[in-house]
Amino acid sequence: MSHHSLFAKKPIDISQFKKGGLERQLTAFSLTAMGVGAVVGAGIFITPGIIAANYAGPGAMLSYILAAAVCALAALCYSEFASTIPLAGSAYTYVYTVFGELLAWILGWALVSEYLFAVASVAVSWSAYFQNLLSGFGLTIPAFFSQAYNQGSGGIDIIAGLITLLIGYLLARGLKESTRVNSIMVIIKVAVILIFLAVAIFYVKPANYKPFLPYGAGGILSGAALAFYAYIGFDAVSTASEEVINPKRDMPIGIISSLGIASLLYAAVAAVLVGVVHYTKLNVGDPVAYALKLMNQNWVAGIVALGAVVGMTTVLLIMSYGGTRLIFAVSRDGLLPKVLSKVSPKTHVPVINTWIFAVVASTFATLIPLDKITELVNIGTLFAFSLVSLGVVFLRRLPDYHKLPQGFKVPFYPVIPLLSCFMCVLLMIQLQKVTWIVFFIWMTLGLLIYATYSYRHSRLKQTKS
Ligand code: ALA
Repeated sequence: MSHHSLFAKKPIDISQFKKGGLERQLTAFSLTAMGVGAVVGAGIFITPGIIAANYAGPGAMLSYILAAAVCALAALCYSEFASTIPLAGSAYTYVYTVFGELLAWILGWALVSEYLFAVASVAVSWSAYFQNLLSGFGLTIPAFFSQAYNQGSGGIDIIAGLITLLIGYLLARGLKESTRVNSIMVIIKVAVILIFLAVAIFYVKPANYKPFLPYGAGGILSGAALAFYAYIGFDAVSTASEEVINPKRDMPIGIISSLGIASLLYAAVAAVLVGVVHYTKLNVGDPVAYALKLMNQNWVAGIVALGAVVGMTTVLLIMSYGGTRLIFAVSRDGLLPKVLSKVSPKTHVPVINTWIFAVVASTFATLIPLDKITELVNIGTLFAFSLVSLGVVFLRRLPDYHKLPQGFKVPFYPVIPLLSCFMCVLLMIQLQKVTWIVFFIWMTLGLLIYATYSYRHSRLKQTKS
């Protein structure tokens, strides 16, 4: 029996850039819509209040700006990879070519948790805002079915589970329809955020900004570790590399402009929110709607709640899309069963994979309460970002580097990749101990799967033996 090295690197098969099972149909504009669609969601409608009340005070916008800066550094690194190695699978594929199979598997496994838990957590927030809307019409769901069991109350979150399955159904029907639906929803969601800003700005009281940093400057950093959640998703854009018409040009534009739009919106919402409501009163689950109610703007609150539901739908759509394409790439390499990379000849969609992903995410969404999953999403993602950032340094040292498409390049190399890696680790350190423990358990499970299945079925091994 032959063995292959745990650090065997995946050769970059340039022919795959042109053919392959997925169809090239996306442009820079659809990528930006996809990015904003994936990014702006639960994070801005739910977390800014918690960040202001518990960590950064009226300085919450600084936490958002710091988190955006960390994401921007990582986004530059992602863009270099995405335009140099335009294959599906995002960070996972990049690390496979640069660091080899074992680290790629570890990273891929961390990313699977990011996507599954992100979809589940956003579905839970979706359900909360949707029930909020229903109650406006006098409709309520029985308490047992309204939310997952948490500290003595609730049972299962039936709406969160159903919306996740509905998203799976949409994606299984084909990418084209989903991206069109996505673009319309992105416009609606940006519009409601702008409406909130336009109305709320007239209620800002300068006195609310004092003291600006009640928990000290360190509060900005811990706030940023949480605010980071709101930016998660821009990396999902890079999972679409194989479906982009001109990845070299469009990939960096798509990633960086979606991040830019998101950070402008977030900093503005955070700044206005703490100006309207004193930070000590913001420890609520729906701060944006809460602020509007305090201003007696009930009809605007209704519109914004509707926009939040729409906004979170696109996050669900894109994060589910990203998750299935990641699993597609891992399965194509033989590290997960082949059936997960089977593409429907009619729709070009990996249908079985899409349904399995939807069912698993739906189960998490139905059973796990929100506060348990948010930090878990962050740790997996920060881990991935730190590896991708470091990966750029190694990418440029590959012997065949000059033969690859010479696309976007990170400026100030190697300072930016190294700084990006450092900042990601710094944010990871801010997260709670329990998050680290669950992360280690998840990773151990991943290593067991690698040892018992993936190592033996790796396509890299088949080609070498
Ligand atoms: N960034 C995503 C959101 O805010 C996870 O919903």
